[in-house]
Amino acid sequence: MNEKQRLETSQVQAKDSSDKKSDKDYSKYFETVYIPPSLKEAKKRGKEEVKYHSDFGIPEELLSMGNGRKFYIRTYGCQMNEHDTEVMAGIFIQLGYEPTDNRDEADVILLNTCAIRENAEDKVFGELGHLKPLKMEKPDLLIGVCGCMSQEESVVNRILQKHHFVDMIFGTHNIHRLPQILNEAYMSKEMVVEVWSKEGDVIENLPKVRKGSIKGWVNIMYGCDKFCTYCIVPYTRGKERSRRPEDIIREVRHLASLGYQEITLLGQNVNAYGKDFEDLTYGLGDLMDELRKIDIPRIRFTTSHPRDFDDRLIEVLGKGGNLLDHIHLPVQSGSSEILKLMARKYSREHYLELVGKIKEAMPNASLTTDIIVGFPNETDEQFEDTLSLYREVEFDSAYTFIYSPREGTPAAKMEDNIPMEVKKERLQRLNSLVNEISAKKLKEYEGKVVEVLVEGESKNNPEVLAGYTEKSKLVNFKGPKSSIGKIVKVKVIKAKTWTLDGEMVEETVEVN
Ligand code: 5AD
Ligand code: SF4
Repeated sequence: MNEKQRLETSQVQAKDSSDKKSDKDYSKYFETVYIPPSLKEAKKRGKEEVKYHSDFGIPEELLSMGNGRKFYIRTYGCQMNEHDTEVMAGIFIQLGYEPTDNRDEADVILLNTCAIRENAEDKVFGELGHLKPLKMEKPDLLIGVCGCMSQEESVVNRILQKHHFVDMIFGTHNIHRLPQILNEAYMSKEMVVEVWSKEGDVIENLPKVRKGSIKGWVNIMYGCDKFCTYCIVPYTRGKERSRRPEDIIREVRHLASLGYQEITLLGQNVNAYGKDFEDLTYGLGDLMDELRKIDIPRIRFTTSHPRDFDDRLIEVLGKGGNLLDHIHLPVQSGSSEILKLMARKYSREHYLELVGKIKEAMPNASLTTDIIVGFPNETDEQFEDTLSLYREVEFDSAYTFIYSPREGTPAAKMEDNIPMEVKKERLQRLNSLVNEISAKKLKEYEGKVVEVLVEGESKNNPEVLAGYTEKSKLVNFKGPKSSIGKIVKVKVIKAKTWTLDGEMVEETVEVN
């Protein structure tokens, strides 16, 4: 950590929580410099060089901190957050803690939070309400809030004001500081707040405890510079920083050697991969071209931004092999006017042109998308444009959302002038279309043989196995438990509303 970052670290210890409810200036409660998370700071995109650290290590004196103690992490939000949880779990294990899935027996509870929509935040505040009595019962319990919500000053202020029983708040840029933050929390028993509004570094060699041994996540980049007007992510996750190709390739090779069958490359805007390299002209297409040579059956990536989805990537994806032809390509709206208000930097026509190119290179590609309804000023006609685009592309499925204003974003300054009833009605109409087309697409599978990566027993019936096709369709079928973790051929017998039922026809599929 350089001096500048040290200064931008807001390591805070609340001295007194009894009388701070009415006061907005918290500085007097803190012994050390209080630099709160700042959306304004987080918005800045400087030219500072990204520094790479491959020397993550835990100070010797902290290594036994967790002996005899248990940790519990509750994760909200996207796969990036899930993966951050895997890293934090890895750090806990290195510190000697044991994992538990029963929060009542935990000594440390972390809420790894999501800020994308208001309801995601409401869930976290609801959970904090539930944790309060537990803390009263067990005063030695440490409760921490981390993840995207911690990067928002309004959230940090609300916790400081109303949730005094929280012991730690730390942000998305400093999860590698978990050992020191825990140590502070134990030493002081006062609220420790460490949120860096300026990121900049890429830390390699962080320990990880992966959730499974069949599918793995690999970060390829952090942050987002797109600043879509509705979106909080560029503020909570900072500027775009790519990991070096050799580090990514090494990690994928390692997972392949451990027997992992599927890798999902992660980034908030994976198509901008490599744009920040100053010494290298290298993009996602180049990376995929290297990764396809690795002996691992399936590689996918998420999430894409249509603006940066380039011809080189399409050309490489067209080579097939272990590069899956399922592309998640968020469109957000089918109206060029709304896309402009959203600052998506593409039009309906550009999006359709891109879809055309993808389908030409990968004739069987399945496309899924994200859509927001009820963005400020969205007219009925503009919403109809979204429906017509959806029909034209024939997405396999979609995540659909009602627009939720996020404080500090440009859209939050626009008048949120679509009545909730109208937003809900639009969402319902969109969802009916999504369901209609998904059902039609699933029906087309009946009688066909698909390759299924078997993940385990079905949640509803232990007699039945469940797994996913290359295009992420959930398939349930009867088969031997020995096929768990393998790719098998299954004949689809029946399409249900969301899933496929099948019969296994062949145990192991050779890929490549
Ligand atoms: N309101 C509603 N949906 C949002 N998304 C992002 N920000 C908002 C918001 N403020 C949706 C987008 C994005 C997905 C991850 O969440 O569709 O692609
Ligand atoms: Fe939520 Fe976005 Fe943060 Fe993921 S990156 S946890 S979706 S706010």
